[in-house]
Amino acid sequence: MIELRELTPEDAEALQQIYSSESTVFLGRGPMDEAGALCYLATAMAAAAQTPRTRYILGITVRAELLGVIKLNLDAPAATVGYVLRVDAWGRGYATEGVRTILALAFGPFGLPEVRAKHHPDNAASGRVLTKSGFTPAGVVGGFETYVIRPSAPPPLRPV
Ligand SMILES: CC(C)(COP(=O)(O)OP(=O)(O)OC[C@H]1O[C@@H](n2cnc3c(N)ncnc32)[C@H](O)[C@@H]1OP(=O)(O)O)[C@@H](O)C(=O)NCCC(=O)NCCS
Repeated sequence: MIELRELTPEDAEALQQIYSSESTVFLGRGPMDEAGALCYLATAMAAAAQTPRTRYILGITVRAELLGVIKLNLDAPAATVGYVLRVDAWGRGYATEGVRTILALAFGPFGLPEVRAKHHPDNAASGRVLTKSGFTPAGVVGGFETYVIRPSAPPPLRPV
């Protein structure tokens, strides 16, 4: 069972383990070093302090251990989600749980009309996370597989 929490300055080492060379293959960036981790944390904490808040960069924890990061970006034109897990935590359903948890926020308290996501065409595991979470493929854009999810439509009203 995962939990999501805000990142703190104490997370720098765990973040470097999460953003390793294996995890970053499809992320369009290299592995994270200590300076990169501190910069990342400063960005995450600044985003958390913003009003209104448009970016959620949250830690994914299991039994209080930071194993991943999930991001929800509310900036126009469409909200997007992204995620990364530490390599030794792959394949346990944590990314899917994280996405489902953040969708509950997106379609609950945030009242968003839709959330979008994308992945590199060779990153089949990421596509599986999205389809397991209820996303629908929305075509290839700029060489990336794109996906969309909207809140479930309410059931039709019964005639009285
Ligand atoms: C993609 C990533 C987040 C998945 O995290 P995870 O916690 O392992 O994901 P889950 O366990 O929730 O689900 C993974 C699913 O992909 C499947 N999968 C794993 N590798 C796969 C592959 N090579 N091809 C097809 N499916 C694959 C798993 O079997 C599982 O599906 P299942 O439950 O039907 O068996 C993780 O691999 C990661 O952090 N990768 C590096 C960062 C990254 O690529 N982020 C996404 C950027 S778009």
